[in-house]
Amino acid sequence: MSKKTGGSGAVGTTEAGSTVPGAGSGVSRRRLIGGAGAAGAAGLVLGAAGGAGGYAATRGDEPAALTTIGTTVAMFHGKHQAGITTPLQARGHLVAFDLAAGAGRREAAALMRRWSAVAERLMAGEPTGDDTGVARDAGPSSLTVTFGFGRAFFTRTGLEARRPAGLDPLPAFSSDHLDAQRSDGDIWVQIGADDALVAFHALRAVQREAGATARVRWQMNGFNRTPGATARPMTARNLMGQIDGTGNPKPGESDFDQRIFVPAGGPAAHEWLAGGSYAVVRRIRMLLDDWEQLPVDRQERVIGRRKADGAPLSGGSETTEMDLDKADADGRLLIPDNAHARISSPEKNGGAAMLRRPFSYHDGISDDGTPDAGLLFVCWQADPFKGFVPVQRKLDRGDALSPFIRHESSGLFAVPGGVAAGEYVGQRLLEA
Ligand code: HEM
Repeated sequence: MSKKTGGSGAVGTTEAGSTVPGAGSGVSRRRLIGGAGAAGAAGLVLGAAGGAGGYAATRGDEPAALTTIGTTVAMFHGKHQAGITTPLQARGHLVAFDLAAGAGRREAAALMRRWSAVAERLMAGEPTGDDTGVARDAGPSSLTVTFGFGRAFFTRTGLEARRPAGLDPLPAFSSDHLDAQRSDGDIWVQIGADDALVAFHALRAVQREAGATARVRWQMNGFNRTPGATARPMTARNLMGQIDGTGNPKPGESDFDQRIFVPAGGPAAHEWLAGGSYAVVRRIRMLLDDWEQLPVDRQERVIGRRKADGAPLSGGSETTEMDLDKADADGRLLIPDNAHARISSPEKNGGAAMLRRPFSYHDGISDDGTPDAGLLFVCWQADPFKGFVPVQRKLDRGDALSPFIRHESSGLFAVPGGVAAGEYVGQRLLEA
């Protein structure tokens, strides 16, 4: 019997009889994640029922036995690309490529075709033609490879007329300390897997396949907690020690798709993006030396939630709604005015919401002796100017977390919808 985990929701688990070829022999249980369809719907229901830990926690069943980590498969084909609603993976690589001088639409189309073919094979746990062998012996380990296009891609390929307004430049924020070399890029690739070698293997395959068509502009490497490390599925913690991901929109909520995915039926020029999404990527450094000096009760007031269990300071457990009006006997708000979770909440932003799906990073110690560590913040939404931008504007003006973080790079990418068998990612843009 194989094990199949939810569709575009990818949060629940249901038993299913199918198996996926190529994930290694002698495997008696496989778990499938991603893809749309019946299994997805079942996953959503189970995910909603069992979603106590919020989106990021919802692997949806008992902690995975070690043997299931390697065998879990994310579906390459489907309504949406994998890697958006797929549960957080333990390892991640974010890479931006620029098209090489002289490469235009034709070369970009050929590259996307090659990359899609490689991603499909690797996500199924199959070797590529000139395989390096790095991932030999491992199953697909929830590998996802997700592709997006930056604003400049449309200029390079002569497709400006089909560039959506969602790719307009993000506004500057007063607290930005952005490094242009590590920002933006023509094509963005997000790789995630629950095994470091599987993730590296995919990264090398993608880099090699770029050939002379595109060169790496920047690369960032991240990680999350390994599934199975906790006794029960839990929302992840970030490097400040906070439970992070609780307030995320959940697959299965009635407005989830509307908030996260670009609907069909927009202007014809942008139809290629139907079923897609926008990713805002920010490398956010955490000033950990300062943060770690704060007593825990002050840390909790910065966020508005308890550190130990993520419960709002207004009471209850992690999944209890924040009561933003609740005050103590002296009339002081329990969730302070400048608390991060208050300021960023949809309630305080005209309903603006995004799906945060980050990786942590640690790149050693900087020249000043402080850790170069933080969050590779990736958030997904149907429209970045209704999701990330208004929320970040507000955070920029008075978030209690601001003194402890620094936005060091930024990217905005339009991520096409998923593809059917025989199609490659971006084909509807590049060949229409
Ligand atoms: C290093 C930087 C950041 C850290 C450490 C951080 C941490 C947290 C934590 C601990 C929570 C509460 C738990 C949760 O609901 O997930 C939270 C909530 C949230 N954060 Fe952040 N955050 C960071 C940056 C950002 C940025 C840049 C944005 C968007 C512009 C953002 C948007 C949100 C949203 C929308 C929520 C949920 C609010 C709600 O619905 O209750 N965060 N964040």
